[in-house]
Amino acid sequence: MCGIVGYIGKRNAYPILIKGLKRLEYRGYDSAGIALLNSKNELNVYKTKGKVSNLEHFAKDKDCNGTIGIAHTRWATHGEPNQINAHPHYSESKNIALIHNGIIENYADLKENLTRKGIHFQSNTDTEVIVQLIEYLLQKNDTDLLTAVQLALSHVVGAYAIAVIDRNNPDVIVAARKSSPLVVGIGDDEFFIASDASPIVEYTKKMVFIDNEEVAYIKRGEELKIVNLNNVEIKPEIEEVMLDIGQLEKGGYEHFMLKEIFEQPACIENCMKGRVNIAHDSIKLSALIDFHDKLVGAKRIIILACGTSWHSGMIGKYLFETYCKIPVEVEYASEFRYRSNVVGENDVVIAVSQSGETADTLAAVELAKEKGAFVYGICNSVGSSIPRATHTGSYIHVGPEIGVASTKAFSGQVTVLVMLALALAKSKNAISDKDYFEIIAELAKIPEKMKKVLQMNEKIADLAKIFTYAHNFIYLGRGYCFPVALEGALKLKEISYIHAEGYPAAEMKHGPIALIDDEMPVVVIATQNALYEKVVSNMQEVKARKGRIIALISEGDEKIKDIANFCIEVPQTLECLEPLITTIPLQLLAYHIAVCKGKNVDQPRNLAKSVTVE
Ligand code: F6R
Repeated sequence: MCGIVGYIGKRNAYPILIKGLKRLEYRGYDSAGIALLNSKNELNVYKTKGKVSNLEHFAKDKDCNGTIGIAHTRWATHGEPNQINAHPHYSESKNIALIHNGIIENYADLKENLTRKGIHFQSNTDTEVIVQLIEYLLQKNDTDLLTAVQLALSHVVGAYAIAVIDRNNPDVIVAARKSSPLVVGIGDDEFFIASDASPIVEYTKKMVFIDNEEVAYIKRGEELKIVNLNNVEIKPEIEEVMLDIGQLEKGGYEHFMLKEIFEQPACIENCMKGRVNIAHDSIKLSALIDFHDKLVGAKRIIILACGTSWHSGMIGKYLFETYCKIPVEVEYASEFRYRSNVVGENDVVIAVSQSGETADTLAAVELAKEKGAFVYGICNSVGSSIPRATHTGSYIHVGPEIGVASTKAFSGQVTVLVMLALALAKSKNAISDKDYFEIIAELAKIPEKMKKVLQMNEKIADLAKIFTYAHNFIYLGRGYCFPVALEGALKLKEISYIHAEGYPAAEMKHGPIALIDDEMPVVVIATQNALYEKVVSNMQEVKARKGRIIALISEGDEKIKDIANFCIEVPQTLECLEPLITTIPLQLLAYHIAVCKGKNVDQPRNLAKSVTVE
């Protein structure tokens, strides 16, 4: 949530910062701003409500010179999204400007103290207290900018990634983080800072991921210096970050979401590369090799995640319990961290997160570690906080996901969970050879089957036109396809703003059936698996109440064609792999309904991609 970007070097900062903000807009897009320090030592701050394009328009005829600058795209937490609350925020003297991603929990106390000292606040944000506090401490202690930032941060409770520039230190950016991501890119006599690698990677591959409570002191013409809040110097660990710029563009698609839906076959292949060996019928996950005893010895698995990642965690539960015979609990990270949970040394916790930055999941990981659990991360964003906080893990390798609604990450997460469950089951001797080999062989066929599903895009677009004006939707599934129903409903509500509920199909008669009438669209995942007949009965119950059934059926299923109003045929696969096939039509349905309604598919209202606040 909120994207921050900064530059110091020889070039004009403005175009780099604007481009960077556009790359980070998925993190928040309710207002944007920029601060530039020009050669006359003037600190110009421009801010607007709305998207980065508004800021660009606003700054068109302004002085946008300066080889040092910071910029921000906001997802509001404290204070409504307007120009005043947009970042950067000035200090009282207007000598210092600051951008921030995170939440300052004790801002009210700090603000009260500073107000009593005669400092005037301009905005309703929590952020402004940091810049006011920095300036206050700078003056009170007659100290330097770095020390003032360290001191100020030691008073702050909460999460932050900040960057500060100061007219009295025109060759310096000070940046720091705690629980919100921050990366520094090292170029040739120039430095970049950002919330993630995407705005930096076209200028340099050399990056330093800043750790919690570390401060980066970035001075023109000097090496990057990293210190902690007590001023102990830390050697920067420079990493080579490989990111294909093409993955950050729409590549001819109208929206990132559509591009990412269509990327899924290739993503899954990438995810399996070097891990699934068809010739030898085997699966190799390095984490399982390195931590074999810990994982094989697990008495219980606890899967922690939020949103879509929680849905893939549910599929993980079915997989681990079926094939590894290990009891599994799947919990919302936000619930887990605030209840008196029972976690111990014999538990393996699996944290699932696309961004690797979700605040609740990260906090739950830390908590589980404190209690002695072994923690395995399943993440997409390389170098993000969760993979760094976990003992081991597997990246899903699906490439950057930019559309706010998660699509290809879900498929990647499910694929890793399948591979992990199979490899673990094999190590425990808990799976029959027949099942093991059959699933591996079928897994390898999934990309081709996904391509077949994607060929139905036009048909699904036509179907979407019929349901554009529905006010509610129900999604039903059973077994492995129950989480798919939840995911289908989530996709629809987040991008089309239609109210949608996912249920286990049999649960419907315990309440939700009361909602069914001839205006209620009911999406039923009714593929030919062990629960097929049961789902057909559930569908009959909907039909009897005149619900309008959209059924996802196995290719060639004639029986359901007589019951459902509309059918989408998908290739048959093994039951445990069905989510990889059946989720795609639901993603497409949600996408096309949102497009028909004229909604902003990639940046739905109120949402942001990376939920770095709890
Ligand atoms: C839904 C969606 C969210 C995320 C959730 C967790 O389309 O994108 O529900 O799945 O915020 O995010 P990660 O996976 O980054 O931890």
